[in-house]
Parts: sequence; C-alpha cells; structure tokens
Amino acid sequence: MNGYPREQIENGHSFENIVGCCELMQEIFRLVKKVSPTTAPVIIQGESGTGKELVARAIHKNSRRKSQKFLAINSASLPETLLESELFGYRRGAFTGAHTDKVGLLESANRGTLLLDEIGAMSKHLQGKLLRAMQDGEVLPVGSSERIKIDTRFLAASNRELVEMVELGEFRKDLYYRLNVIEIILPPLRDRKEDIPLLAEHFLRKYHREQRWGDPWPWKESAPKSLSKPAMRKLVKYRWPGNVRELENVIRRALIVSSGPVIKENQINLKGPVLLNISGRPDLLSMRYRDAKKIVQSQFQRAYVKRLLSECGGSVSKAASRAGLSRQGLHQMAKRYGLK
Ligand SMILES: Nc1ncnc2c1ncn2[C@@H]1O[C@H](COP(=O)(O)OP(=O)(O)OP(=O)(O)O)[C@@H](O)[C@H]1O
Ligand SMILES: [Mg+2]
Repeated sequence: MNGYPREQIENGHSFENIVGCCELMQEIFRLVKKVSPTTAPVIIQGESGTGKELVARAIHKNSRRKSQKFLAINSASLPETLLESELFGYRRGAFTGAHTDKVGLLESANRGTLLLDEIGAMSKHLQGKLLRAMQDGEVLPVGSSERIKIDTRFLAASNRELVEMVELGEFRKDLYYRLNVIEIILPPLRDRKEDIPLLAEHFLRKYHREQRWGDPWPWKESAPKSLSKPAMRKLVKYRWPGNVRELENVIRRALIVSSGPVIKENQINLKGPVLLNISGRPDLLSMRYRDAKKIVQSQFQRAYVKRLLSECGGSVSKAASRAGLSRQGLHQMAKRYGLK
C-alpha cells in the first residue's frame, strides 16, 4: 500500500481525545493536567474550531467534579433576556409567561462545571451579574428575593481576544481579571502543521468506526483507510481557516467519496460547505482576506439570485434582463447554487 506511513497516536500525543504532537499542544496538555484538579476559573481562547470545548471537557473530566454535571452555554446564540433566564433562572410570575420556576445553569451546574462559551458576546449587564455571582458564590434568580448558594466551577471560552475587548471597553475589566486565573490559548492549525498528519489519522479512525455500522458485516475486522502521500501533502499545505473542525469535515467527506483503501489527492475536497462557527456566522476574521471575501461574495450571490429568480417566477430570461446579467451567466450562477 502506498499510503502515508501511519503514526502512532501514543507517546503522549493525545490526551482525552485531544490530539497533538507539537510542542505547543504538549504544553497545553501539561497545563490542562495541572489546572484540572483545582477550582480556578480558566479562560480558553482560540480561533473557531481549534478545540476550545474539547479542552473545557477535558478539564472537567480530570477534575474532582467529574461525576457531577458539565454544562455549557453559548452567549452568542441567545438574545440577552433569554440568556439571563438560562443563566440565572427565574421565579414563577417574574414576568409574563413565567408560569413555573426555572432553575438557571449557574445553579444546575452546582458542584460541577459551567462553560461560558463565546463569553465575549455577553452584554455588559450580564457580565456584571455574572461577576457578582462569582464573587459571592450566590445567584439571585429573576423575580426572587432569595439568594442561592452555588459552588460552580467556571470555564470561559472566546474566539476573540478578551484583553483586546477590555481595551476597547467591550468587556468588563473586573470580570476579565476574575476569570483570568489561568489562560489557555489554542494555536490555529496553520501554526502547528506537524499535527496535521496525526489529526488526519485520528479522524480516519474515528469515522472508520462510525461508518462500519453501515457495513453489512460491521463486526468483521477491517483496517481504516489511509491517505496517499500527495493527499497528505495537500492537507499539510492548506491554511485551514476553520482549523481542526474543518480538517475533520474534509476527512469525513473524503471517506465517503473514496472507494478503495487509499484516499487519493483528488478525493480531498478543500472547498466543501462553508464553515460556520457555532453562532452560525462564518468566522471571517480568522480567515485570509481572499477566503473571507469569497465566502461573503458567494453568500451574496446565492441570496441575490434566489430572490431574483423567485420574483421573476423562475424565468431566467426575465431575471437576467432585469438584473443586467447575461442569460448564460445567470443560468450558471443558479446552477452553482443549486437553484432551479
Ligand atoms: N486537538 C484536537 N484533537 C482532536 N479533535 C479536535 C482537536 N481540536 C478540535 N477537535 C475537533 O474539532 C471539532 C471542533 O472542536 P471544538 O468544538 O472544541 O472547537 P471550538 O474551539 O470550541 O470551536 P468554536 O469556536 O467554533 O466553538 C470537534 O469535533 C473536536 O472534537
Ligand atoms: Mg466551541
């Protein structure tokens, strides 16, 4: 077989499903092991897809709280009032629609760990409330006059630099210092290219296992597929704006489209579906200008053509003349975006 030589995911090159052999990741493994048994808050920073949530889970799993809950909430995914209810809970009758009591996450995660994901998206008002809860070890549900004692460990993740947000006045300095006892910064994948072969191998195995349950004889031993050398070179050369998540998706796709035991270079499709970060927005600022522009451009094109065609009752000629485009050009665009 002329596949890329298999490396062993051993020798300390992985920790709690986090794979990495580069010095930076080794340092992160050491740090995670050190901070886990403490109750210190940790800020985990890194671009989208670098493994922040994975690290947060590893911290919880290696702490004395591991048999308790690990809960996570993404501040960017909810409007402020909903986020407040989710975090702090409320008492029945606190506002219209509050028919029953709701226990907030700060309280639900009592004795466990709470990951505040994309904490930079939290409003200043909620930042203040969170700071108070952390300082006092108590929460005050909305509409309640009774404080509840909590012993929750806080982890925070952000794909924006919080120090910078503090300087810009977008993030409370006092909360930043409260949270920032330990800071773990996950490097972008393009700065640790030596990890790419190891990660690729990790995902080949992971999805091999998953795919086998679709086999007619899933219990029959079969070896995971491997990557040809040119295919691996292609992966190592690429810049990975969506980081490890993007690599994972690329491998998963390649496994589906390839048939033989070795994945070839032309079966590696780097221009797959646009990567969205967890809040549903592409993380444009972590990409090269050219790549970001391409994404925005294609989103615009798709939306424009879709609206245009629907307003013209699906007639390409009518739509083309209205938009001042050639019929052929418009037809191609519609085809590219799967619009009929
Ligand atoms: N070092 C790693 N080893 C193995 N898998 C990884 C690694 N880093 C990330 N992943 C995988 O990549 C995907 C994205 O990781 P994760 O959700 O932790 O990223 P994130 O930094 O929280 O991203 P976002 O900012 O978009 O929320 C997950 O499927 C995770 O398992
Ligand atoms: Mg995340």
